[in-house]
Amino acid sequence: MFGLFKSVFKLQFLFVIVAILAGVYHTEVKQFLRRYTDSYLDQAGGSDEIPVAFQTGDEALFTAAELETFNGEEGRPLYLALLGSVFDVSRGIKHYGAGCSYNFFVGRDASVSFISGEFENYDPKVADDVLTLKPDDLIGLAGWRDFYQKDYIYKGKLIGRFYNEKGDLTAYHHKYLALLEQAQDAKKEAEELRNRYPGCNIEWSEAKGTRVWCTNTSGDGKTRSSSGYPRKLYSRGNKNFQCACVPESELDEINAGEKAAHGDVMLKPYDNCQPRALECFYRV
Ligand code: HEM
Repeated sequence: MFGLFKSVFKLQFLFVIVAILAGVYHTEVKQFLRRYTDSYLDQAGGSDEIPVAFQTGDEALFTAAELETFNGEEGRPLYLALLGSVFDVSRGIKHYGAGCSYNFFVGRDASVSFISGEFENYDPKVADDVLTLKPDDLIGLAGWRDFYQKDYIYKGKLIGRFYNEKGDLTAYHHKYLALLEQAQDAKKEAEELRNRYPGCNIEWSEAKGTRVWCTNTSGDGKTRSSSGYPRKLYSRGNKNFQCACVPESELDEINAGEKAAHGDVMLKPYDNCQPRALECFYRV
């Protein structure tokens, strides 16, 4: 009985010592655990299954100078940042290692170069200034971010344009997200429009001018049940028109006058073309 009491006491004493040591060396312990789990995930090839949101409690904040040191030298890992998020790309060493094609991206946030392909003229002041990019490029860049999130290990945030010293989103970051959402909405709207009003076939000849006509695969090449009828489609802020194939059900409305069809899009009949003609001719 006394023996059992002694071993329980010893065990408790051991726990107290371990707890004290863990408290004093908590940073080292954390780093050790992190390194251990990272290498485990690497071996298991499973890091891509960990959503970033799960790691937010343990993500690091990097200054630009700190990030620069993760350059693969002296056994250090290879990190890069994209849109202010830091990723460990060590296992892509064949792309990112010294002398490899994409080593330029290591140790910095050069988000703009993912779109421009400019790896030579590096100006750190604007290398991550993405608000100047076109809407489609913002979508492309978001695709790169998804790629790193899926294929590499998320490490934390870079203090700078996208995150402040506390790791909170900056006003710039909010602006970027708003522009990205706008770009995605516009893309979705354009896709919906293309589905609703597929493009026409088009040809030009000296004798007849421009001929437009619809078939049940014109536009996107996908087969649909009916060919539709050619109409002029004007997009927002654009005085030029494209030819769109409009379904039978919408013809009367369009023929009756101008019609706002989808958002700010306008559909009009071609001049000198019968309401149910399958082809129309015009000269500009
Ligand atoms: C804007 C220009 C470009 C950027 C930003 C870019 C970026 C990248 C990056 C970051 C990777 C590594 C992906 C990974 O971690 O797995 C990569 C891979 C690759 N890139 Fe590019 N790239 C560009 C243009 C090109 C061009 C023009 C070509 C071809 C002529 C090309 C061919 C490749 C190939 C073949 C790989 C895969 C290599 C492999 O898996 O072994 N890239 N690219």
